[in-house]
Amino acid sequence: MFGRRKSLEAVTRHDADRALAKTLSWPHLIALGVGAIVGTGIYTLTGVGAERAGPAVILAFAIAGAVCACAALAYAELATMIPAAGSAYTFSYAALGEGIAWVVGWSLILEYSLACSTVAVGWSGYLVGWIQSAGVHLPAALLSGPHGGGVVNLPAVLVALAVMGILVAGTRESATLNIVLVVVKLVALAIFVTFALPAFDFAHLQPFMPYGFGSSEMGGEKRGVMAAAAIVFFAFYGFDAVATSAEEAKQPGRDLTIGIVGSMLVCTVIYMAVAVAAVGALPFTALANSPEPLALVLRSVGQPMAGHLIALAAVVALPSVILVMMYGQSRIFFVMARDGLLPRRLATVSPRTGAPTLITVLTGVSIAVVAGLFRLDEIAELANAGTLLAFISVGACLMVLRRQAPTAERLFRCPAPFLVGTLAILGCLYLMFSLPSATIARFLIWNAIGLAIYFAYGRRKSELERRPATA
Ligand code: ALA
Repeated sequence: MFGRRKSLEAVTRHDADRALAKTLSWPHLIALGVGAIVGTGIYTLTGVGAERAGPAVILAFAIAGAVCACAALAYAELATMIPAAGSAYTFSYAALGEGIAWVVGWSLILEYSLACSTVAVGWSGYLVGWIQSAGVHLPAALLSGPHGGGVVNLPAVLVALAVMGILVAGTRESATLNIVLVVVKLVALAIFVTFALPAFDFAHLQPFMPYGFGSSEMGGEKRGVMAAAAIVFFAFYGFDAVATSAEEAKQPGRDLTIGIVGSMLVCTVIYMAVAVAAVGALPFTALANSPEPLALVLRSVGQPMAGHLIALAAVVALPSVILVMMYGQSRIFFVMARDGLLPRRLATVSPRTGAPTLITVLTGVSIAVVAGLFRLDEIAELANAGTLLAFISVGACLMVLRRQAPTAERLFRCPAPFLVGTLAILGCLYLMFSLPSATIARFLIWNAIGLAIYFAYGRRKSELERRPATA
């Protein structure tokens, strides 16, 4: 029963009242991808990466990017082959069976929801810094959760709820606003590279790998290039959110390929440039632990105005990451509910906007609660664990479907699929084991809870259980 599967035909066939409207074309999709990818990862975690790997954080970005590139190729083939909402969850349902699909969907909750919460907390940090530099002081109890001595991180809660409101208003409107925010983020990074590169000094790259390559415990923390790669991995994902909108793409074949592969390539090039400019401009120890490393670099090289602009861009544009990830999360919940693994009532689509309103509101409120109460680094690491599991499943689905359905139509064919799939799986496993042990333990607990829910509810209520003919 754990292994019952849906046919490829079944995952793309739905009742008309539970189908999403087709409103997106490739510029929207590439902007969705870049909108989800460029965020707290490059703006904030560059500093944490430098602390863990030294100047070799450049290498950490390259490794995380290479692993994500393999996963992106697998996503592109699968999303064009199975243009249905739900991405890794839906692919797994067809290739690996219901039980594994549930585990993947349950892990995707960590990826999408916790990434939203992480970015909301990071955004709050930038906003508060900005307001305080203007001389306005807000009550500390409302600026951080209990871990930081406060009660609730109110700005993080408010930004999550505001984004939820935009999504409820309808998909096309939110995707168009997203394009504007993406432009702001990219222009800010271009300004960063332009002003930081002239201060490049080769002396700052020595020693290049002060903590070695592998991830090892030092002073209670994992350090080394792989430990940094496991964290800066956060900066790369989000391209998979494009795949979650497959059902809403006007021309899934062409548009999704351009959206997924294009956004991934654009971001890798930008990150390499930003990382080289950042560690070349300052000794890495100066970057470590900074809540705003890019602004710090610019101020330190005598460009305070550019530093201000970068910080402003982060405040204005980081919500676009929350927008895309929350969009992806609500679609994944929606599909799991439509399949009966979560209560079906959640899968109701608004007749006015064609968007799943109830599930979007529930998702937004949960994300706001986590953002209001928990610590940024811990939620980011757990989000990475969930994402890595989803990417592993996608690598496996790519290879399994090449064997199971060799003649099925594939609008995009991944080159060397067995090599790419294997590299994606091995790379993600290596990154997973480079995460702190506490994160891995939390991840296992989360999945134990998920399996208990599956056996108590989803397995019995599944659409495949009620109407096996739909398989
Ligand atoms: N890649 C996204 C970010 O860096 C999640 O914020």
